[in-house]
Amino acid sequence: MTQSKPNPLCHAGSPTTLRMGSGTVLVHRLDATRSTNDLARTWLTDHAAPVPAAWIAGIQTAGRGTRGRSWASPEGGLWMSLAMPVADPAAGVLPGLGLRVGVAAVRAVRESLPERAASEVVLRWPNDLVVARPGAGVRKIGGMLVECAPHGIVVGLGINVNNSPPATDDAGRALRTPPVSVAELAGEDLVLDRLAECLLGHLTDLIPVPGLPTNLFREIEGLLHRPDSGVQVTGRDGRMYSGLIRGVSEHPDSLGALLLEQPNGDVMRVVSGDLS
Ligand code: BTN
Repeated sequence: MTQSKPNPLCHAGSPTTLRMGSGTVLVHRLDATRSTNDLARTWLTDHAAPVPAAWIAGIQTAGRGTRGRSWASPEGGLWMSLAMPVADPAAGVLPGLGLRVGVAAVRAVRESLPERAASEVVLRWPNDLVVARPGAGVRKIGGMLVECAPHGIVVGLGINVNNSPPATDDAGRALRTPPVSVAELAGEDLVLDRLAECLLGHLTDLIPVPGLPTNLFREIEGLLHRPDSGVQVTGRDGRMYSGLIRGVSEHPDSLGALLLEQPNGDVMRVVSGDLS
């Protein structure tokens, strides 16, 4: 694949200022780092009035996943973190944030794929980007790790793009969901910088939006992975619940929580957890 014009993200070394809608993002590119989330967190800790900034690494030597897991980050994947200053998180930026980030990721990956493959890329609540093919199971393309820092939020995204993702974890155990790369879905390698720029565009559009406005809520409902066979989730009480996904909550007290219809017809709101 060739690029028609030089991409500003391609210049390694000093950071590049990228224009995004109404604002700009300072983009740092690195060959290798421990974790781009750590760099973004330091930025938001050390600057009292930081500007939005992103870090994109060729490899991560200590990439982090959710729930303290490690995240394999070899050459060829997109390992990126965006530091977004948030003056007043209580003003509504945080509720629904994970889902807005998920929508940005699904949009960017879909835009880089042919139509049929694109339509199979969906969001597995709360933070997985997966491909779900009828009869062929679910495979994980990437994931998100959103963290709070003193002067803003860190949005980390790991997407298997041109790399061969490992099928086992550090201990050699098979991953809960087998992985897949975007290149495998596309049938060819992608230009990483183009995907990164597209993703940054969607993130900077969606992160500042407070809550989940109706149009976004509808988009989420359409992108949500809902296995016909139902899911299992561990509740806050440590018990395992099973049921059918009925969508996400619009209620202000539980915005973005998963609505799980249990076998007895009761619908429970799941605020956090891993689906299986
Ligand atoms: C998950 O467990 O599914 C979330 C994975 C998030 C990985 C990304 S890669 C860029 C950023 N830096 C990290 O150390 N983690 C996130």
